[in-house]
Amino acid sequence: MSAPQLRDVSDHLLFECAWEVANKVGGIYTVIKTKVPVTVSEYGDRYTLIGPLSYKTAPMEVEAEDPTDPHVISTLAAMRERGVKVLHGRWLVEGSPRVILFDTGSKYDMLDEWKGDLWNLAGIPTPPNDHETNETIIFGYLVAWFLGEYVSRQLEKAVVAHFHEWQAGLAISLCRKRHIDVTTVFTTHATLLGRYLCAGSVDFYNNLQYFDVDHEAGKRGIYHRYCIERSSAHCADVFTTVSHITAYESEHLLKRKPDGVLPNGLNVVKFSALHEFQNLHAKAKAKINDFIRGHFYGHYDFDLDNTLYLFTAGRYEYRNKGVDLFIEALARLNYRLQKAGTKTTVVAFIIMPAATHSYTIEALKGQAVTKQLRDTVTEIQNRIGNRIFEHAARYTGEHGTEVPKAEDLLSDEDKILLKRRVFALKRNGLPPVTTHNMADDSNDPILNQIRRVHLFNSHYDRVKVIFHPEFLNSNNPILGLDYEEFVRGCHMGVFPSYYEPWGYTPAECTVMGIPSITTNLSGFGSFMEDMLEKPEDEGCYIVDRRMRSLEDSVTQLTDQLFGFATKSRRQRINQRNRVERLSPLLDWKNLGIEYSKARQLALRRAYPDSFDEDDYFDFDSHVNKPPFSVPGSPRYKAGNMTPGDIGTLTEEMERLGTSDYRGAPQWPHLSKAEEDEDSYPFPLVL
Ligand code: UDP
Ligand code: G6P
Ligand code: GLC
Repeated sequence: MSAPQLRDVSDHLLFECAWEVANKVGGIYTVIKTKVPVTVSEYGDRYTLIGPLSYKTAPMEVEAEDPTDPHVISTLAAMRERGVKVLHGRWLVEGSPRVILFDTGSKYDMLDEWKGDLWNLAGIPTPPNDHETNETIIFGYLVAWFLGEYVSRQLEKAVVAHFHEWQAGLAISLCRKRHIDVTTVFTTHATLLGRYLCAGSVDFYNNLQYFDVDHEAGKRGIYHRYCIERSSAHCADVFTTVSHITAYESEHLLKRKPDGVLPNGLNVVKFSALHEFQNLHAKAKAKINDFIRGHFYGHYDFDLDNTLYLFTAGRYEYRNKGVDLFIEALARLNYRLQKAGTKTTVVAFIIMPAATHSYTIEALKGQAVTKQLRDTVTEIQNRIGNRIFEHAARYTGEHGTEVPKAEDLLSDEDKILLKRRVFALKRNGLPPVTTHNMADDSNDPILNQIRRVHLFNSHYDRVKVIFHPEFLNSNNPILGLDYEEFVRGCHMGVFPSYYEPWGYTPAECTVMGIPSITTNLSGFGSFMEDMLEKPEDEGCYIVDRRMRSLEDSVTQLTDQLFGFATKSRRQRINQRNRVERLSPLLDWKNLGIEYSKARQLALRRAYPDSFDEDDYFDFDSHVNKPPFSVPGSPRYKAGNMTPGDIGTLTEEMERLGTSDYRGAPQWPHLSKAEEDEDSYPFPLVL
C-alpha cells in the first residue's frame, strides 16, 4: 500500500456511487441528479459517478465517451480484460458529469466466489435467491475492484469515495478490509429495518431503543441485507444520513450515530419573470381540467373554476406514505364541506404505482367522448363562422340585414350531430375512482379504504377521488402530463407520511410554489419546522404525528384541508408566492455545503497528518453567506447558520475525534400508536 500521507488532499478526487446513478427508482435518483451541478462546479472533471449499467435506460441517460484520466483508462482496461462490461461516458443531466456504469450481469460467474469471500471477511451470510442482494454483491465487488486498482495506479491524489444506501454500500466494507487507500463516506436514505417495521403495525418511534435488531431483521427475512447495511455504516470513515429523524433511527437500528445530517436539496430554477410559475400553474391546471371533464362525463355538474386539485404521490407504501390518513381526512373534509353548504369541489388524486392490467375502458371512453364532443363543437363553430362571414359578405345595404339571425346559425344537421355527441355522454354508473384495471382490486388497501369511507364520486360528494395507479407520463393516453407539470397544475400536495427519511415530493411542491402538507415524522417536515418560525403561514403545513394520537392527527389534517379549501383565489395566489419564496432553503447552492463538510471530515480522518491543528475548513465564509436572501418574510429561525448546521458536521469538525452529533434530540415520549393492521382505526363518518 502506498504511504497515504503523500496523497494530495487539497486537489483530491471524488467518486460518488449509488444504485440510482443514471437509473431512476425513487428519491435517491433525485438526490444525485439534482446535486450534480453544485458538485461539478466544485470538482469539475475530478468528479465521477459510479452506478449499475441498465441496457434499457442507459442509452437515454448516458452518452458514451472515452475516459481521459490515464489511470481510469488502464484500470477499466484491466477489468475489461477479465470480462467486466462497463460503460464510461457523460450522464445527460445538467452539469454532464463523468459516469462509470458497471454491468453486473457480466460478472455473475464470480457470484459464488464473492459470496464465499463475504462470508469469510465479514461473516455475512447470503441466501441463494435474493436477486437484489446478488446484484448488490456483484456491484459492490466491482466497485471495490475498480477503486483498488485505481488507487494502486494513481498515487498522487487523495480519493474520496461517497456511497449512498445499502445497495451501493458493500464496497465500503471491502475497501476497509482490503486497506484500499481511499476515504469513504456513507449516506443512508433510510434504514431497511425502519421501513419494514413501519410498514407493519409497530409502534415504531416509541420503541426504537428496544428493538432486538437481529431478531427483527431475521423475522422479516432481511438479515443478510441488514448486515450489509450495518457494516457499510460501521466501516465508513464518515457516516451520514438525510435528516435528524433518520439519524436517530440509524443510531438505534444500525448502532452507529451518524456524524452529521446532509439534508436533500433541489436544483432550483429561477424564472426571469417573477410570476412565471403562477402562469405555469394556470396553464397546467387547464390540462388537468380537460382530463376532469372527460373523467366525469355525464356527471360533470360542478364548476371547474371553483374546483381544487389535491394530490398525493410516491411509491406505493400505503401506511408509510400516510395514504390511510389522507383518505380518512378526505372523507371528513367531504362531510364538512357538505355541512358548510359550499359550492367548492375538491378533486383528490392518488398517484401511486400498483400492479394493473392497463386502463379501464370507462376511463378511456370518458376522454374519447369528450374529445369527440370538443371536435364536433369546433367543426360546428367553424361552420357558424363561415355562415356569419358569408352572410356579412353578401350585405347589399338593406337595413336590418347586417347580422344573421341567431336561429339560422345552427343548421338541423349541426343540431343532430351535437345531440348525438351529447347523448354519448349519458352513463349509468358513477365516475370511477380508479383509472386502471387493478390486478388485485378487492385486496387493494387504497381502494378498500375508499370503499370504507364511501367516497364514490357521487353528485353529493364535494370531495371526488381519482386513484391513478401508475406514475405520470406525458405520453399516457389519459392524464397525459409529466409529473412536474401535474404538480404545477394542482393546488396542494398532501403527504402525511409515517415513515419518510426525507420526502422529496413536498420539497418539489415548495420550489414550484405549490403549498403542501407533510408531517413532523418526515425529514423534510422536521427540517422546515427547524428552519421556519411558522411553516404553516408560508404554505408549508405540518401534521403532528409525533406527539398526537392518530385520531388527533387526522383531525389536524382535516382542519388544514378545510382551511385551505375555504381560501379565496387571491389568498391562494398569495400563498403560492410565499411558498415559492422558500425555494432558497432547498437549493443545493446552499445545502451542497453539507456534503463538502462530510468530505472534508473524511479526508481529515483518513489523512490527519495532512492537516494542521488549526487548519479548519473555513465554514465561516459559508455560514455568513446569506443562503436565505429572501427579503422581509418569511421569518427564519436559523439566523446565521447554514441549513445543515442543524446537521452539525461543523461541530464534529471542530471536535475531531468525538462522534457526537448535536440535535439528535432526546425525543419526547410519543402517544401510543393505535394502529392495528387488521382493524379500521377511525370511526366511520358516514
Ligand atoms: N415521482 C415521479 N413521478 C411520479 C411521482 C413521483 O417521478 O408520478 C418522483 C418525485 O418527483 C420524487 C420521487 O419520485 O423525486 C419520490 O421521492 P421521495 O423522496 O418523495 O420518496 P421515495 O420514493 O424515495 O421514498
Ligand atoms: C395563476 C394565474 C392567475 C389565475 C390563478 C388561478 O396565479 O396567474 O391568472 O387566476 O393562477 O389560481 P387558482 O388557485 O384558482 O388555480
Ligand atoms: C428514500 C426515502 C425518502 C427520501 C429519499 C431521498 O427513498 O424514502 O424519504 O426522500 O430516499 O433521500
